[in-house]
Amino acid sequence: MKDVYTLQDLSRIQLDEGAGQPARLAVLGSPVAHSLSPQLHQPALDATHAKLRYIRLEVEPSQVADALDKLQALDFVGANITVPHKFEALAAVDELDSAAHTLGAVNTILFENGRKLGFNTDGPGFVRAIHEEFLVDVKDLRILVVGAGGGAGQAIAAQCALEGCERLVLVNRTVEKAHQLAGRLTRYFESERLEGPGERLEVFPIDSPHLAGETDHIDLIVNTTSVGLKRTDPSPLPPGCLQPHHLVYDTIYNPSPTKLLGEASQVGARTANGLSLLLYQGVIAFELWFPGQRPLETMRSALREAVGAS
Ligand code: ATR
Repeated sequence: MKDVYTLQDLSRIQLDEGAGQPARLAVLGSPVAHSLSPQLHQPALDATHAKLRYIRLEVEPSQVADALDKLQALDFVGANITVPHKFEALAAVDELDSAAHTLGAVNTILFENGRKLGFNTDGPGFVRAIHEEFLVDVKDLRILVVGAGGGAGQAIAAQCALEGCERLVLVNRTVEKAHQLAGRLTRYFESERLEGPGERLEVFPIDSPHLAGETDHIDLIVNTTSVGLKRTDPSPLPPGCLQPHHLVYDTIYNPSPTKLLGEASQVGARTANGLSLLLYQGVIAFELWFPGQRPLETMRSALREAVGAS
C-alpha cells in the first residue's frame, strides 16, 4: 500500500497489493500528499461495512481525463478532485449538476452506468457550514467574499448567488477577476429587493479606501484568499473593516485562528474556520456515492482526529 499512487499504479494488482480492501475511491490532485480526504472518508467507508479503500492519486495537469477513464475501468465508485484539477475535471465528465455548471468546476465524480457524473459539493458544503456555525441561512445575508478571483472564492461567491443572498460584495487583489465573476453572476441579482444603500452586487479592489465603510452593510465576511496560510501572514482585509455585528468565516483552518479571525474576535464579531466547509463538502460527496448513508458524525470525529482538534 502506498500513501500516494500515480497513473502507472492504476492496475488492480498494483493497487490492491498488500491491502485487505480494494481501492474504489480516490482523490486526484497535484500535489495530493497533504490531502485530508482519505482520513475523512475512510472511517465513513469502514462504518458502512463496504470494505472499500480510499486512496490518493497524484495526477499531472492534462492527465485528468485519462485518470478518470482508468478509474472507471477499474470499477471505482467515484472520486474527489482537488487543486489544480477542478476545472479540467469539468471538461472530462459526461454530465454536470447545476452547482458544478454554475460554479464552473467539479470536485466530485460519480461513475454510474458507464457515465461520469460531475458535481460540486464546495458550494453546497459552504451553505451547510454557515448554517451550522452561525445558525443563519446564506440566502438571508449580505455577504462579502474576499479573494473572489481564486478558485475557492469563485465557487463560494457563485453559490451565494445561486442561493439568492441579499447582497454580494466581491473583493479581490486583481480586481479584473472579480469583475469577470460579477459579469457571470449579474442575472442572479436583477430584482431590487434590497433596502438601504448599495447595489446588490458590487466589486471592490482589496485596497479600496471605500472598503471599510462598505462593511457597515455586510453581515458575513468570508476569506477565500490564501492569506493566512502562513502563521506570519497579515489579515487579508485592510484595517477598519471588522465590526461587532459581523459573522466572519475564514476558509483557512490551519493555522487557527488566523490573524483575520483573531482580529474579528477582538472586535466582538462571531467567527468560524474552514473545517466545517471541509467536513460538509466531504459529507455531501459521500452521500452522492452512497445514497441513504448518514456519515456526518463519523466524518466529524475523523476530521477532528486528523487535524488534532478536540
Ligand atoms: P486559486 O484558488 O485559483 O488556486 P490562489 O493563487 O491560491 O488561486 O489565490 C486565491 C486567492 O487569494 C486569489 O483571489 C488571490 O488574489 P489574485 O486573484 O489577485 O491573485 C488571493 N491572494 C493570494 N495572495 C494574496 C495576497 N498577498 N493579497 C491579497 N490576495 C491574495
